[in-house]
Amino acid sequence: MEDLITLGIESSCDETAAAVVVNGRKMLSNVISSSLELHKAYGGVVPELASRKHLEYIVPVIDGALKEAGVSLEKVDVIGVTFGPGLVGGLLVGLMAAKSLAYAAGKPLVGVHHLEGHIFANFVGEDAPEPPFITLVASGGHSHIVLVKDYGDYKILGRTRDDAAGEAYDKVSRALGLGYPGGPAIDKAAALGDPKYASFPKTRFKDSLDFSFSGIKTAVLNHMNRLNMAGETVPVNDICASFQEAVCGILCENTFKAAREQGIKTVVLAGGVAANSRLREMFDRTAKQRGVRLVKPPKILCTDNGAMIASAAYYAYKKGRISDMTLNAEATWSLEDM
Ligand code: KG4
Ligand code: ZN
Repeated sequence: MEDLITLGIESSCDETAAAVVVNGRKMLSNVISSSLELHKAYGGVVPELASRKHLEYIVPVIDGALKEAGVSLEKVDVIGVTFGPGLVGGLLVGLMAAKSLAYAAGKPLVGVHHLEGHIFANFVGEDAPEPPFITLVASGGHSHIVLVKDYGDYKILGRTRDDAAGEAYDKVSRALGLGYPGGPAIDKAAALGDPKYASFPKTRFKDSLDFSFSGIKTAVLNHMNRLNMAGETVPVNDICASFQEAVCGILCENTFKAAREQGIKTVVLAGGVAANSRLREMFDRTAKQRGVRLVKPPKILCTDNGAMIASAAYYAYKKGRISDMTLNAEATWSLEDM
């Protein structure tokens, strides 16, 4: 079989990213330029600022990915690009770059769903899962439990009814003065704290695998207010550890419940929150206890990157999914509609 080379482009949030991947598995390059520093002062991503940075970074990032891979544009077989969901201003920049390259070089274009990209981060490398499998996609914008029936065939079994898991991390972090993004900051502080310090609520819904993270966020804020009113010090590390224990606990509980209900023996982690050390530990332990195979991406492929888009584009292309030049940016788009 001839090697198939994909160039993946991602620009849905604050990372401008491009990567070259062979046969959906072998990563030749993975270049990421982030405007994160710019957003820190605002406590979250400012779409207008992010779009302007994407414009500045997109050409050097794509150029860098091709150069690092030692691959010329002529040698690229397929161009994959995130078309949504995400911030439209940013998506348009990546999309226009991808369309221009595809048109000029006469290459097929494949539009990739951002969450599909996160799932396919697990296919880059040696330890790829085989569908069917259950995946938890937890990021700043989504918290989904997805049954991947086949390549490109997704069923959402559970989702958050309010905040995404990453969003809860970011909001609690801001309240604790740990800054943005909250995930890595809380992860670090939690390692020094006591997870049994407080029991924050894990929301469960009857006959549903859905999540809710706004209640736990409010419980943390109320707890902090009580301490502040009483003039007591706020034990930041302990609060982080207890908050994290509850969030990761419910993510783990519902994901493995989905696997059991569906009779599936492979569980896959994906999305920015999948970089969390406690979550990875809990999933490792639970998978071992239940005799389930766990696949998780390396931390660098958990947060937004181009390699996951390149890999997803490879598998989509193999299934005959090719986009035309009318492909547009979509702020919201369900995985089930792919
Ligand atoms: O997937 P991603 O890079 O972008 C989106 O698609 O949203 O995810 C970003 C989210 C942020 O909310 C960030 O706080 C969270 O992932 N995150 C983490 C960790 N690293 C990033 N959450 C928990 N623990 C981490 N180590
Ligand atoms: Zn993402």
